[in-house]
Amino acid sequence: MTAPLVLRPLAAADHDATARLLHRALVHWYESRLRQGSRFGSSVEPFRLFPEVYAALDPGEAIAACDADTGALLGVTFVHPRSTHIAVGIVATAPETQGRGIARAMLEPVLERARRAGLPVRLVSSLLNLDSFSLYSRLGFVPHTIFQDLALTIPETGLRAAPPADADRVRRATDPAEAGSLAKLERELQGIEREGDHAFFLRNTVGDWRVWVLDHEDGSPDGFLVASHHPSCVMLGPGVAHDEATALALLWRALDALRGHSVVFLVPCSARRIVQTCYAWGARNVELHAAQTTGPAPVARGIALPTFLPESG
Ligand SMILES: CC(C)(COP(=O)(O)OP(=O)(O)OC[C@H]1O[C@@H](n2cnc3c(N)ncnc32)[C@H](O)[C@@H]1OP(=O)(O)O)[C@@H](O)C(=O)NCCC(=O)NCCS
Repeated sequence: MTAPLVLRPLAAADHDATARLLHRALVHWYESRLRQGSRFGSSVEPFRLFPEVYAALDPGEAIAACDADTGALLGVTFVHPRSTHIAVGIVATAPETQGRGIARAMLEPVLERARRAGLPVRLVSSLLNLDSFSLYSRLGFVPHTIFQDLALTIPETGLRAAPPADADRVRRATDPAEAGSLAKLERELQGIEREGDHAFFLRNTVGDWRVWVLDHEDGSPDGFLVASHHPSCVMLGPGVAHDEATALALLWRALDALRGHSVVFLVPCSARRIVQTCYAWGARNVELHAAQTTGPAPVARGIALPTFLPESG
C-alpha cells in the first residue's frame, strides 16, 4: 500500500466513478494478461448498470475503497447479504493500484461479518483471471462447481434447431407475489434463499428483466430463469431447474425472446446434455467460472444457472 485507504459505503454520487473504475479495471486486466480487453467494449456507459442495480437491490451494502488523501475511488466491492449466505461481486480495483492489497482490504470486513453471522460467503470467480482466483483462494474460498460461459448470437429468425420438449410450456412471470415459490424452489435445490432478488426481477423497475418459469403438473415451479434484456448487459441467469430437460426448455425460451442479440449464459460443466445441446444451437465457449464458497461445499441438487448481474453462486 502506498497511500492510506479509507473504506466507506458506495454512494449514488460514486456511480459515474464506479462505472469508469469497473470498465478500466476489466479492460486493463483482460488486455494486459490475455489480450482480450476489447470484449468489454470502448464505452463506460454500460457499466453504470452495475452500481444502479446493486444500489436498488442492496442499498448501502457496496464498499468503496478510497485514497485517504485525495478521496479518489480505488476499489469497489458489491456485497449481497442474504439469510443463508453473503454473496460478493463484482470486485475491482484501479489498475495502477492492483497487487497492493486493496481487494483484500475490502473483502476482509465482509468475511468477518459473515463469520460473526455464521454464514458462508459465496461468489463466482473467473478461471481465466488467476489474480482474482488467487485472491479468493488466499482468503479461504473453495471452488465447488465449474461453469462454462457460453456466447450465442440468436438469429432474427430464431434458433435454427427444433425447440426442446416443453419449451412451449415455459411462461413469463411478472407478478412479484411469485417470488416466494421461486425462492422456495431455489432453497430446496441449491440451499440458498433470495426471495428479495426474485421480487426485484419480477417488479422490473431497475434494469430490464424477464422471468421465465416452467411449472410442474401440480402448479409449483420445476424451474425458472431470469434474463437481463438491458442493452448494457444481455445475459441469462440467475436460474435453477430440477433437471437438465427443464433447464433446456427454459434456456430455449429465454434465448428465443432475445432474437437478434448476442447472449452470454453460464451452464454447469457437468450438465453434459445442456452443454452439447447449446453447442448444437451454435453456442461458443468464451470463459470458465468457478462458484466458490468459504463454507462447506453446499450439497446442491438440480441445475444452477448463475449470472454476474446480480452476482450469484
Ligand atoms: C482481481 C482484482 C480485484 C484483485 O485486486 P488487487 O487489489 O490487485 O488484489 P490484492 O492486492 O488485494 O490481492 C491479491 C492477492 O492475490 C495474490 N495473488 C495474485 N496472483 C497470485 C498468484 N498467481 N498466486 C497466488 N497468489 C496470487 C496476491 O499475493 C494477493 O494475496 P495476499 O494479499 O495474500 O498477498 C484486480 O486485479 C482487478 O480489479 N481485476 C480486474 C477486475 C476483475 O477481474 N475482477 C474480478 C472478477 S469480478
